[in-house]
Amino acid sequence: MITAPETSKPWAALRTHHEALAGIHLRDLFAEDPARFERYSFEACDLFLDYSKQRVDDETMSLLHALADSVDLHAAIERMYTGEKVNNTESRAVLHVALRNRSNLPIRVDGQDVMPAVNDVLARMRAFTTAVREGHWRGYTGQRIRTIVNIGIGGSDLGPAMVTAALHAYHQPGLQAYFVSNLDFTHIDETLESLDPETTLFIVESKTFTTQETLTNARTARAWLVRNLKDEAAVAKHFVAVSTNRDQVASFGIDPANMFEFWDWVGGRYSLWSAIGLPIAVMVGMDRFEQLLNGAHAMDEHFRTAPWQRNMPVLMGLLGVWYVNFFGAATHAVLPYDYGLRHFPAYLQQLEMESNGKRVTRHGEVVGYKTCPIVWGAPGNNGQHAFYQLMHQGTRLIPADFIVPVKHKHDDLAHQNAVLANALAQTEALMRGRTAAQARSELEAAGFSGELLDSAVPHRVLPGNQPTSTIVYDRLTPKVLGELIALYEHKVFVQSAIWGINAFDQWGVELGKQLVKVILPELTGAEPVTGHDASTNGLIEYVRQRRAR
Ligand code: F6P
Repeated sequence: MITAPETSKPWAALRTHHEALAGIHLRDLFAEDPARFERYSFEACDLFLDYSKQRVDDETMSLLHALADSVDLHAAIERMYTGEKVNNTESRAVLHVALRNRSNLPIRVDGQDVMPAVNDVLARMRAFTTAVREGHWRGYTGQRIRTIVNIGIGGSDLGPAMVTAALHAYHQPGLQAYFVSNLDFTHIDETLESLDPETTLFIVESKTFTTQETLTNARTARAWLVRNLKDEAAVAKHFVAVSTNRDQVASFGIDPANMFEFWDWVGGRYSLWSAIGLPIAVMVGMDRFEQLLNGAHAMDEHFRTAPWQRNMPVLMGLLGVWYVNFFGAATHAVLPYDYGLRHFPAYLQQLEMESNGKRVTRHGEVVGYKTCPIVWGAPGNNGQHAFYQLMHQGTRLIPADFIVPVKHKHDDLAHQNAVLANALAQTEALMRGRTAAQARSELEAAGFSGELLDSAVPHRVLPGNQPTSTIVYDRLTPKVLGELIALYEHKVFVQSAIWGINAFDQWGVELGKQLVKVILPELTGAEPVTGHDASTNGLIEYVRQRRAR
Protein backbone atom coordinates (compact mmCIF):
# COMPACT_ATOMS: atom_id res chain seq x y z
CA MET A 1 0.00 0.00 0.00
CA ILE A 2 1.51 3.34 -1.08
CA THR A 3 0.99 6.27 1.28
CA ALA A 4 1.00 9.98 0.45
CA PRO A 5 4.61 11.02 1.06
CA GLU A 6 3.98 13.60 3.75
CA THR A 7 1.86 11.20 5.81
CA SER A 8 4.43 8.38 5.64
CA LYS A 9 6.56 7.36 8.59
CA PRO A 10 9.89 8.19 6.88
CA TRP A 11 8.62 11.70 6.10
CA ALA A 12 7.75 12.32 9.75
CA ALA A 13 11.07 10.83 10.81
CA LEU A 14 12.91 13.03 8.32
CA ARG A 15 11.20 16.09 9.81
CA THR A 16 12.43 15.21 13.27
CA HIS A 17 15.85 14.31 11.96
CA HIS A 18 16.04 17.61 10.09
CA GLU A 19 15.49 19.52 13.32
CA ALA A 20 18.51 17.76 14.80
CA LEU A 21 20.76 18.10 11.75
CA ALA A 22 19.84 21.62 10.57
CA GLY A 23 21.98 23.26 13.24
CA ILE A 24 25.09 21.22 12.48
CA HIS A 25 27.71 22.72 10.23
CA LEU A 26 29.27 20.70 7.42
CA ARG A 27 32.66 21.67 8.87
CA ASP A 28 31.79 19.70 11.99
CA LEU A 29 30.52 16.71 10.03
CA PHE A 30 33.88 16.59 8.24
CA ALA A 31 35.80 17.06 11.48
CA GLU A 32 33.91 14.20 13.14
CA ASP A 33 34.38 11.70 10.33
CA PRO A 34 37.72 11.53 8.51
CA ALA A 35 36.26 8.87 6.19
CA ARG A 36 33.37 11.07 5.10
CA PHE A 37 34.61 11.37 1.51
CA GLU A 38 34.98 7.59 1.11
CA ARG A 39 31.61 7.01 2.78
CA TYR A 40 29.67 9.46 0.65
CA SER A 41 31.08 9.02 -2.83
CA PHE A 42 30.90 6.33 -5.50
CA GLU A 43 31.14 5.63 -9.22
CA ALA A 44 28.38 4.65 -11.62
CA CYS A 45 29.13 3.99 -15.28
CA ASP A 46 31.82 6.59 -16.12
CA LEU A 47 30.66 9.13 -13.55
CA PHE A 48 31.94 9.71 -10.06
CA LEU A 49 29.73 11.41 -7.48
CA ASP A 50 31.02 13.03 -4.31
CA TYR A 51 28.11 13.94 -2.07
CA SER A 52 30.11 14.23 1.13
CA LYS A 53 29.56 18.01 1.07
CA GLN A 54 25.81 17.42 1.44
CA ARG A 55 24.14 18.05 4.79
CA VAL A 56 23.49 14.40 5.47
CA ASP A 57 24.63 11.60 7.74
CA ASP A 58 23.94 7.86 7.75
CA GLU A 59 20.58 8.35 9.38
CA THR A 60 19.52 10.89 6.72
CA MET A 61 20.42 8.46 3.99
CA SER A 62 18.62 5.51 5.50
CA LEU A 63 15.50 7.61 6.10
CA LEU A 64 15.61 8.86 2.51
CA HIS A 65 15.91 5.27 1.29
CA ALA A 66 12.93 4.37 3.44
CA LEU A 67 11.05 7.26 1.84
CA ALA A 68 11.81 5.79 -1.59
CA ASP A 69 10.50 2.44 -0.41
CA SER A 70 7.38 4.00 1.05
CA VAL A 71 6.34 5.17 -2.44
CA ASP A 72 7.43 1.82 -3.93
CA LEU A 73 10.01 3.41 -6.20
CA HIS A 74 11.12 0.02 -7.53
CA ALA A 75 7.66 -0.73 -8.83
CA ALA A 76 7.35 2.77 -10.33
CA ILE A 77 10.63 2.25 -12.24
CA GLU A 78 9.47 -1.13 -13.50
CA ARG A 79 6.16 0.32 -14.66
CA MET A 80 7.99 2.89 -16.78
CA TYR A 81 10.52 0.42 -18.22
CA THR A 82 7.85 -2.12 -19.15
CA GLY A 83 5.68 0.25 -21.15
CA GLU A 84 2.82 0.86 -18.72
CA LYS A 85 0.92 4.08 -19.39
CA VAL A 86 2.61 5.96 -16.59
CA ASN A 87 1.70 9.27 -18.22
CA ASN A 88 -1.83 8.79 -16.92
CA THR A 89 -3.31 12.16 -17.88
CA GLU A 90 -2.47 11.54 -21.54
CA SER A 91 -2.83 7.76 -21.32
CA ARG A 92 0.65 7.22 -22.75
CA ALA A 93 3.60 4.99 -22.05
CA VAL A 94 6.90 6.76 -21.39
CA LEU A 95 9.69 4.95 -23.14
CA HIS A 96 12.73 7.10 -23.75
CA VAL A 97 14.53 4.04 -22.35
CA ALA A 98 13.37 2.09 -25.42
CA LEU A 99 15.02 4.62 -27.73
CA ARG A 100 18.40 3.66 -26.27
CA ASN A 101 17.61 0.04 -25.43
CA ARG A 102 20.87 -1.30 -26.80
CA SER A 103 20.09 -4.78 -25.45
CA ASN A 104 17.33 -4.83 -28.04
CA LEU A 105 15.19 -6.98 -25.74
CA PRO A 106 11.51 -6.46 -26.52
CA ILE A 107 9.68 -3.58 -24.86
CA ARG A 108 5.95 -3.64 -25.46
CA VAL A 109 3.31 -0.97 -25.65
CA ASP A 110 -0.23 -2.37 -25.90
CA GLY A 111 1.29 -5.81 -26.54
CA GLN A 112 3.43 -4.60 -29.47
CA ASP A 113 7.24 -4.64 -29.31
CA VAL A 114 8.45 -1.12 -30.12
CA MET A 115 12.05 -2.13 -30.82
CA PRO A 116 11.64 -2.96 -34.55
CA ALA A 117 10.24 0.54 -35.19
CA VAL A 118 13.00 2.14 -33.07
CA ASN A 119 15.65 0.23 -35.01
CA ASP A 120 14.08 1.10 -38.38
CA VAL A 121 14.24 4.81 -37.63
CA LEU A 122 17.84 4.48 -36.42
CA ALA A 123 18.68 2.76 -39.71
CA ARG A 124 16.97 5.55 -41.70
CA MET A 125 18.85 8.14 -39.66
CA ARG A 126 22.11 6.35 -40.43
CA ALA A 127 21.39 6.25 -44.16
CA PHE A 128 20.36 9.89 -44.29
CA THR A 129 23.12 11.34 -42.13
CA THR A 130 25.76 9.33 -43.95
CA ALA A 131 24.45 10.62 -47.28
CA VAL A 132 24.62 14.22 -46.04
CA ARG A 133 28.06 13.82 -44.48
CA GLU A 134 29.55 12.03 -47.48
CA GLY A 135 28.01 14.44 -49.96
CA HIS A 136 25.60 12.00 -51.61
CA TRP A 137 22.58 13.99 -50.45
CA ARG A 138 22.94 17.20 -52.40
CA GLY A 139 21.03 20.44 -52.55
CA TYR A 140 18.71 21.33 -55.44
CA THR A 141 21.50 22.83 -57.52
CA GLY A 142 23.77 19.83 -56.94
CA GLN A 143 25.92 21.38 -54.23
CA ARG A 144 27.03 19.59 -51.07
CA ILE A 145 25.24 20.43 -47.82
CA ARG A 146 27.50 22.60 -45.66
CA THR A 147 25.03 23.95 -43.11
CA ILE A 148 22.13 22.48 -41.21
CA VAL A 149 19.53 24.67 -39.54
CA ASN A 150 17.40 23.00 -36.92
CA ILE A 151 14.02 24.66 -36.48
CA GLY A 152 12.20 23.64 -33.30
CA ILE A 153 11.53 24.77 -29.75
CA GLY A 154 11.43 23.26 -26.25
CA GLY A 155 12.36 19.59 -26.43
CA SER A 156 12.73 19.88 -30.19
CA ASP A 157 15.52 22.41 -29.70
CA LEU A 158 17.10 22.38 -26.24
CA GLY A 159 18.25 18.74 -26.23
CA PRO A 160 19.74 18.60 -29.73
CA ALA A 161 21.25 22.09 -29.37
CA MET A 162 22.82 21.26 -26.02
CA VAL A 163 24.29 17.95 -27.23
CA THR A 164 25.49 19.37 -30.55
CA ALA A 165 27.39 22.10 -28.70
CA ALA A 166 28.74 19.63 -26.14
CA LEU A 167 30.13 17.34 -28.84
CA HIS A 168 31.82 20.08 -30.86
CA ALA A 169 35.08 18.11 -30.77
CA TYR A 170 33.41 15.43 -32.89
CA HIS A 171 31.82 17.68 -35.54
CA GLN A 172 32.58 16.88 -39.15
CA PRO A 173 34.87 19.61 -40.50
CA GLY A 174 33.12 21.72 -43.09
CA LEU A 175 29.66 21.26 -41.56
CA GLN A 176 28.00 23.97 -39.47
CA ALA A 177 24.88 23.68 -37.31
CA TYR A 178 22.47 26.42 -36.30
CA PHE A 179 19.44 26.17 -34.04
CA VAL A 180 16.54 28.52 -34.56
CA SER A 181 13.84 28.50 -31.90
CA ASN A 182 12.77 32.05 -31.08
CA LEU A 183 9.60 33.45 -32.62
CA ASP A 184 11.15 36.88 -32.98
CA PHE A 185 12.00 37.28 -36.69
CA THR A 186 15.43 38.44 -35.62
CA HIS A 187 16.50 34.89 -34.78
CA ILE A 188 15.76 33.35 -38.16
CA ASP A 189 16.74 36.52 -39.99
CA GLU A 190 20.17 36.80 -38.36
CA THR A 191 20.73 33.09 -38.95
CA LEU A 192 19.83 33.16 -42.63
CA GLU A 193 21.77 36.35 -43.24
CA SER A 194 25.09 34.60 -43.71
CA LEU A 195 23.84 31.32 -45.20
CA ASP A 196 23.97 30.03 -48.73
CA PRO A 197 20.59 28.53 -49.71
CA GLU A 198 22.25 26.12 -52.14
CA THR A 199 24.19 24.41 -49.34
CA THR A 200 21.70 24.70 -46.46
CA LEU A 201 19.48 21.91 -45.14
CA PHE A 202 16.60 22.70 -42.79
CA ILE A 203 15.53 20.11 -40.23
CA VAL A 204 12.09 21.04 -38.95
CA GLU A 205 11.51 19.31 -35.63
CA SER A 206 8.20 19.25 -33.84
CA LYS A 207 6.51 16.37 -32.06
CA THR A 208 3.07 17.80 -32.79
CA PHE A 209 3.92 19.86 -35.89
CA THR A 210 1.41 22.42 -34.66
CA THR A 211 3.76 24.59 -32.60
CA GLN A 212 3.39 28.25 -33.57
CA GLU A 213 7.04 29.22 -33.12
CA THR A 214 8.36 26.32 -35.18
CA LEU A 215 5.85 26.55 -37.99
CA THR A 216 6.27 30.31 -38.29
CA ASN A 217 10.06 29.99 -38.51
CA ALA A 218 9.79 27.05 -40.91
CA ARG A 219 7.49 29.06 -43.22
CA THR A 220 9.95 31.94 -43.21
CA ALA A 221 12.84 29.59 -44.01
CA ARG A 222 10.86 27.93 -46.77
CA ALA A 223 9.99 31.29 -48.36
CA TRP A 224 13.66 32.35 -48.16
CA LEU A 225 14.74 29.15 -49.88
CA VAL A 226 12.17 29.32 -52.66
CA ARG A 227 12.83 33.03 -53.18
CA ASN A 228 16.54 32.35 -53.60
CA LEU A 229 16.46 29.12 -55.56
CA LYS A 230 13.42 30.24 -57.57
CA ASP A 231 11.69 26.88 -57.56
CA GLU A 232 9.21 25.20 -55.18
CA ALA A 233 10.78 21.88 -56.13
CA ALA A 234 13.91 22.89 -54.19
CA VAL A 235 12.05 22.31 -50.91
CA ALA A 236 12.33 18.52 -51.30
CA LYS A 237 16.12 18.73 -51.26
CA HIS A 238 16.46 21.30 -48.49
CA PHE A 239 13.76 20.39 -45.94
CA VAL A 240 13.33 17.30 -43.80
CA ALA A 241 10.98 16.91 -40.85
CA VAL A 242 11.04 15.02 -37.57
CA SER A 243 7.61 14.51 -36.06
CA THR A 244 4.92 12.15 -34.83
CA ASN A 245 2.37 13.90 -37.08
CA ARG A 246 2.63 12.75 -40.69
CA ASP A 247 -0.50 14.60 -41.84
CA GLN A 248 0.65 17.98 -40.55
CA VAL A 249 4.10 17.45 -42.08
CA ALA A 250 2.49 16.75 -45.45
CA SER A 251 0.15 19.71 -45.20
CA PHE A 252 3.09 21.98 -44.39
CA GLY A 253 4.58 20.90 -47.72
CA ILE A 254 7.34 18.52 -46.68
CA ASP A 255 7.23 15.19 -48.46
CA PRO A 256 6.54 12.48 -45.80
CA ALA A 257 9.29 10.50 -47.53
CA ASN A 258 11.62 13.10 -45.98
CA MET A 259 10.10 12.69 -42.54
CA PHE A 260 11.67 10.84 -39.62
CA GLU A 261 9.12 9.43 -37.27
CA PHE A 262 8.85 9.12 -33.53
CA TRP A 263 6.00 8.16 -31.28
CA ASP A 264 3.58 9.52 -28.68
CA TRP A 265 5.38 7.52 -25.98
CA VAL A 266 8.39 9.85 -26.35
CA GLY A 267 7.96 13.04 -24.33
CA GLY A 268 9.23 16.21 -26.03
CA ARG A 269 11.81 16.90 -23.32
CA TYR A 270 12.94 13.25 -23.43
CA SER A 271 13.19 13.11 -27.21
CA LEU A 272 16.81 13.84 -28.12
CA TRP A 273 17.42 10.08 -28.28
CA SER A 274 14.82 9.71 -31.04
CA ALA A 275 15.00 11.13 -34.57
CA ILE A 276 14.91 14.52 -32.82
CA GLY A 277 18.63 13.76 -32.44
CA LEU A 278 19.02 14.01 -36.24
CA PRO A 279 21.03 17.28 -36.16
CA ILE A 280 23.37 15.70 -33.60
CA ALA A 281 23.83 12.67 -35.83
CA VAL A 282 24.52 14.83 -38.90
CA MET A 283 27.20 16.73 -37.02
CA VAL A 284 28.95 13.89 -35.18
CA GLY A 285 27.99 10.87 -37.28
CA MET A 286 25.70 8.01 -36.46
CA ASP A 287 28.37 5.90 -34.72
CA ARG A 288 28.88 8.66 -32.18
CA PHE A 289 25.14 9.21 -31.84
CA GLU A 290 24.90 5.52 -30.98
CA GLN A 291 27.66 5.96 -28.39
CA LEU A 292 25.46 8.63 -26.82
CA LEU A 293 22.63 6.05 -26.75
CA ASN A 294 25.02 3.48 -25.26
CA GLY A 295 25.87 5.86 -22.44
CA ALA A 296 22.22 6.50 -21.67
CA HIS A 297 21.50 2.76 -21.79
CA ALA A 298 24.31 2.08 -19.31
CA MET A 299 22.74 4.63 -16.94
CA ASP A 300 19.28 3.10 -17.53
CA GLU A 301 20.62 -0.29 -16.44
CA HIS A 302 22.33 1.24 -13.42
CA PHE A 303 19.13 3.04 -12.38
CA ARG A 304 17.03 -0.10 -12.75
CA THR A 305 19.33 -2.44 -10.88
CA ALA A 306 21.61 -0.65 -8.40
CA PRO A 307 20.67 -0.68 -4.71
CA TRP A 308 19.53 2.69 -3.41
CA GLN A 309 22.82 3.20 -1.53
CA ARG A 310 24.79 3.15 -4.79
CA ASN A 311 22.12 4.36 -7.20
CA MET A 312 23.16 7.75 -8.54
CA PRO A 313 19.85 9.02 -9.94
CA VAL A 314 18.01 7.81 -6.84
CA LEU A 315 20.51 9.47 -4.58
CA MET A 316 20.42 12.79 -6.43
CA GLY A 317 16.62 12.72 -6.52
CA LEU A 318 16.40 12.05 -2.80
CA LEU A 319 18.90 14.76 -1.93
CA GLY A 320 16.76 17.21 -3.90
CA VAL A 321 13.69 16.17 -1.91
CA TRP A 322 15.66 16.55 1.33
CA TYR A 323 16.43 20.21 0.58
CA VAL A 324 13.11 21.17 -1.01
CA ASN A 325 10.80 19.55 1.53
CA PHE A 326 12.77 19.68 4.75
CA PHE A 327 15.17 22.64 4.42
CA GLY A 328 12.70 24.68 2.33
CA ALA A 329 15.19 25.29 -0.51
CA ALA A 330 13.49 27.07 -3.39
CA THR A 331 16.17 26.61 -6.02
CA HIS A 332 18.76 24.18 -7.29
CA ALA A 333 21.86 25.37 -9.16
CA VAL A 334 23.71 23.39 -11.84
CA LEU A 335 27.24 24.59 -12.44
CA PRO A 336 29.23 22.88 -15.18
CA TYR A 337 32.98 23.52 -15.31
CA ASP A 338 33.00 22.30 -18.88
CA TYR A 339 32.40 24.83 -21.64
CA GLY A 340 30.85 22.06 -23.70
CA LEU A 341 28.02 21.94 -21.17
CA ARG A 342 27.20 25.65 -21.40
CA HIS A 343 23.65 24.88 -22.54
CA PHE A 344 23.11 22.12 -19.98
CA PRO A 345 21.42 24.33 -17.34
CA ALA A 346 18.91 25.63 -19.91
CA TYR A 347 18.25 22.09 -21.08
CA LEU A 348 17.71 20.97 -17.48
CA GLN A 349 15.30 23.81 -16.85
CA GLN A 350 12.84 22.26 -19.28
CA LEU A 351 13.63 18.71 -18.22
CA GLU A 352 13.08 19.37 -14.54
CA MET A 353 10.62 22.23 -14.40
CA GLU A 354 8.30 21.12 -17.21
CA SER A 355 8.35 17.62 -15.73
CA ASN A 356 7.95 18.31 -12.03
CA GLY A 357 6.52 21.82 -11.95
CA LYS A 358 3.19 20.34 -10.85
CA ARG A 359 0.78 21.10 -8.03
CA VAL A 360 -1.54 18.10 -8.09
CA THR A 361 -0.79 14.42 -7.63
CA ARG A 362 -1.27 11.84 -10.36
CA HIS A 363 -4.81 11.50 -9.04
CA GLY A 364 -5.59 15.19 -9.08
CA GLU A 365 -5.32 16.05 -5.37
CA VAL A 366 -3.59 19.34 -4.60
CA VAL A 367 -0.26 18.52 -2.95
CA GLY A 368 0.43 19.66 0.60
CA TYR A 369 4.17 20.08 0.05
CA LYS A 370 6.54 21.79 -2.36
CA THR A 371 7.54 20.08 -5.60
CA CYS A 372 10.13 21.06 -8.23
CA PRO A 373 12.63 23.75 -7.21
CA ILE A 374 13.64 26.50 -9.62
CA VAL A 375 16.53 25.04 -11.59
CA TRP A 376 19.13 27.47 -12.83
CA GLY A 377 22.82 27.79 -13.47
CA ALA A 378 25.60 28.77 -15.84
CA PRO A 379 29.10 27.55 -16.61
CA GLY A 380 30.99 27.72 -13.34
CA ASN A 381 33.75 30.19 -14.03
CA ASN A 382 31.33 32.70 -15.53
CA GLY A 383 28.96 32.21 -12.63
CA GLN A 384 31.76 32.92 -10.16
CA HIS A 385 32.00 36.43 -11.55
CA ALA A 386 28.24 36.95 -11.58
CA PHE A 387 26.04 35.24 -9.00
CA TYR A 388 28.29 33.19 -6.68
CA GLN A 389 28.46 36.15 -4.30
CA LEU A 390 24.84 35.42 -3.38
CA MET A 391 25.66 31.77 -2.81
CA HIS A 392 28.52 32.69 -0.48
CA GLN A 393 27.01 35.55 1.48
CA GLY A 394 23.33 35.81 0.55
CA THR A 395 20.47 34.76 2.78
CA ARG A 396 19.31 31.62 0.96
CA LEU A 397 20.17 27.96 1.05
CA ILE A 398 21.24 27.02 -2.49
CA PRO A 399 22.05 23.38 -3.11
CA ALA A 400 24.21 23.00 -6.20
CA ASP A 401 25.67 20.38 -8.52
CA PHE A 402 29.22 20.98 -9.72
CA ILE A 403 29.98 19.10 -12.93
CA VAL A 404 33.69 18.72 -13.44
CA PRO A 405 35.73 17.02 -16.17
CA VAL A 406 39.21 15.80 -15.38
CA LYS A 407 40.27 16.63 -18.94
CA HIS A 408 38.85 19.09 -21.40
CA LYS A 409 38.57 18.81 -25.14
CA HIS A 410 41.98 20.40 -25.60
CA ASP A 411 45.06 19.16 -23.81
CA ASP A 412 46.08 22.59 -22.59
CA LEU A 413 47.04 21.84 -19.01
CA ALA A 414 47.25 25.46 -17.93
CA HIS A 415 43.56 25.93 -18.68
CA GLN A 416 42.55 22.51 -17.39
CA ASN A 417 44.26 22.86 -14.05
CA ALA A 418 42.95 26.37 -13.53
CA VAL A 419 39.38 25.25 -14.20
CA LEU A 420 39.72 22.27 -11.87
CA ALA A 421 41.23 24.38 -9.13
CA ASN A 422 38.36 26.86 -9.41
CA ALA A 423 35.69 24.17 -9.21
CA LEU A 424 37.27 22.55 -6.16
CA ALA A 425 37.95 25.90 -4.49
CA GLN A 426 34.31 26.89 -4.84
CA THR A 427 32.86 23.71 -3.33
CA GLU A 428 35.33 24.00 -0.46
CA ALA A 429 34.50 27.67 0.11
CA LEU A 430 30.75 27.01 -0.08
CA MET A 431 31.06 24.20 2.42
CA ARG A 432 33.56 25.69 4.85
CA GLY A 433 32.93 29.41 4.60
CA ARG A 434 35.04 31.79 6.69
CA THR A 435 34.38 32.33 10.40
CA ALA A 436 34.61 35.69 12.14
CA ALA A 437 37.76 34.52 13.94
CA GLN A 438 39.39 33.55 10.65
CA ALA A 439 38.34 36.82 9.06
CA ARG A 440 39.76 38.73 12.01
CA SER A 441 43.12 37.03 11.94
CA GLU A 442 43.41 37.40 8.13
CA LEU A 443 42.64 41.11 8.47
CA GLU A 444 45.12 41.52 11.29
CA ALA A 445 47.77 39.85 9.17
CA ALA A 446 46.95 42.38 6.46
CA GLY A 447 47.56 45.23 8.92
CA PHE A 448 44.00 46.09 10.04
CA SER A 449 43.46 47.11 13.64
CA GLY A 450 41.07 48.94 15.97
CA GLU A 451 37.71 50.19 14.67
CA LEU A 452 38.66 49.58 11.08
CA LEU A 453 39.29 45.94 11.91
CA ASP A 454 36.02 45.54 13.84
CA SER A 455 33.94 47.10 11.10
CA ALA A 456 35.60 45.02 8.37
CA VAL A 457 35.09 41.63 10.02
CA PRO A 458 31.33 41.04 9.37
CA HIS A 459 31.78 41.78 5.67
CA ARG A 460 34.48 39.12 5.40
CA VAL A 461 32.44 36.35 7.07
CA LEU A 462 31.08 33.59 4.82
CA PRO A 463 28.69 31.30 6.67
CA GLY A 464 29.43 28.27 4.44
CA ASN A 465 27.30 25.16 4.99
CA GLN A 466 26.00 25.40 1.40
CA PRO A 467 25.48 21.84 0.19
CA THR A 468 27.06 20.70 -3.07
CA SER A 469 27.55 17.51 -5.02
CA THR A 470 30.48 17.12 -7.39
CA ILE A 471 30.10 14.95 -10.45
CA VAL A 472 33.44 14.07 -12.03
CA TYR A 473 34.18 12.38 -15.36
CA ASP A 474 37.21 11.95 -17.54
CA ARG A 475 36.29 13.79 -20.71
CA LEU A 476 33.00 14.72 -22.30
CA THR A 477 32.70 11.89 -24.84
CA PRO A 478 29.34 11.00 -26.43
CA LYS A 479 29.03 8.05 -24.03
CA VAL A 480 29.74 10.13 -20.93
CA LEU A 481 27.28 12.77 -22.09
CA GLY A 482 24.61 10.11 -22.62
CA GLU A 483 25.18 8.89 -19.07
CA LEU A 484 25.01 12.39 -17.64
CA ILE A 485 21.76 13.31 -19.37
CA ALA A 486 20.11 10.01 -18.45
CA LEU A 487 21.27 10.53 -14.86
CA TYR A 488 19.27 13.75 -14.66
CA GLU A 489 16.28 12.29 -16.49
CA HIS A 490 16.03 9.53 -13.91
CA LYS A 491 16.66 11.93 -11.03
CA VAL A 492 13.57 13.81 -12.21
CA PHE A 493 11.63 10.55 -12.31
CA VAL A 494 12.66 9.68 -8.76
CA GLN A 495 11.43 13.03 -7.50
CA SER A 496 8.13 12.69 -9.35
CA ALA A 497 7.64 9.30 -7.73
CA ILE A 498 8.28 10.71 -4.25
CA TRP A 499 5.99 13.67 -4.85
CA GLY A 500 3.34 11.42 -6.42
CA ILE A 501 3.08 13.58 -9.55
CA ASN A 502 3.03 12.86 -13.27
CA ALA A 503 6.37 14.02 -14.70
CA PHE A 504 5.31 13.48 -18.28
CA ASP A 505 2.48 15.87 -19.04
CA GLN A 506 2.62 19.69 -19.29
CA TRP A 507 -0.93 21.01 -19.08
CA GLY A 508 0.28 24.28 -17.61
CA VAL A 509 1.62 25.49 -20.94
CA GLU A 510 -1.74 25.22 -22.71
CA LEU A 511 -3.57 28.26 -21.31
CA GLY A 512 -1.06 30.71 -22.74
CA LYS A 513 -1.30 29.00 -26.14
CA GLN A 514 -5.11 29.38 -26.09
CA LEU A 515 -4.92 33.06 -25.17
CA VAL A 516 -2.48 33.75 -28.01
CA LYS A 517 -5.21 32.69 -30.42
CA VAL A 518 -7.56 35.28 -28.93
CA ILE A 519 -5.04 38.12 -28.66
CA LEU A 520 -3.37 37.73 -32.06
CA PRO A 521 -6.34 39.00 -34.12
CA GLU A 522 -7.10 41.68 -31.52
CA LEU A 523 -3.69 43.28 -32.08
CA THR A 524 -4.60 44.20 -35.62
CA GLY A 525 -8.36 44.66 -35.10
CA ALA A 526 -10.16 47.98 -34.94
CA GLU A 527 -12.80 47.04 -32.35
CA PRO A 528 -12.23 48.15 -28.75
CA VAL A 529 -10.76 45.28 -26.72
CA THR A 530 -12.84 44.49 -23.64
CA GLY A 531 -12.71 40.72 -23.20
CA HIS A 532 -9.73 40.49 -20.82
CA ASP A 533 -8.80 41.98 -17.48
CA ALA A 534 -8.15 45.73 -17.40
CA SER A 535 -4.38 45.28 -17.62
CA THR A 536 -4.44 43.03 -20.69
CA ASN A 537 -7.12 45.14 -22.41
CA GLY A 538 -5.11 48.25 -21.64
CA LEU A 539 -1.85 46.80 -22.92
CA ILE A 540 -3.43 45.66 -26.19
CA GLU A 541 -4.91 49.14 -26.72
CA TYR A 542 -1.62 50.82 -25.77
CA VAL A 543 0.38 48.66 -28.21
CA ARG A 544 -2.11 49.38 -31.00
CA GLN A 545 -1.88 53.13 -30.40
CA ARG A 546 1.87 53.08 -30.19
CA ARG A 547 2.12 51.20 -33.44
CA ALA A 548 -0.22 53.65 -35.13
CA ARG A 549 1.96 56.61 -34.10
O1 F6P B 1 4.75 24.00 -25.00
C1 F6P B 1 5.58 23.06 -24.42
C2 F6P B 1 5.94 21.99 -25.41
O2 F6P B 1 4.84 21.21 -25.70
C3 F6P B 1 7.09 21.13 -24.92
O3 F6P B 1 6.68 20.12 -24.09
C4 F6P B 1 7.69 20.69 -26.18
O4 F6P B 1 9.00 20.19 -26.02
C5 F6P B 1 7.63 21.95 -27.00
O5 F6P B 1 6.41 22.56 -26.63
C6 F6P B 1 7.69 21.78 -28.48
O6 F6P B 1 6.65 20.97 -28.94
P1 F6P B 1 6.70 20.32 -30.36
O7 F6P B 1 7.87 19.41 -30.42
O8 F6P B 1 5.40 19.59 -30.51
O9 F6P B 1 6.83 21.43 -31.36
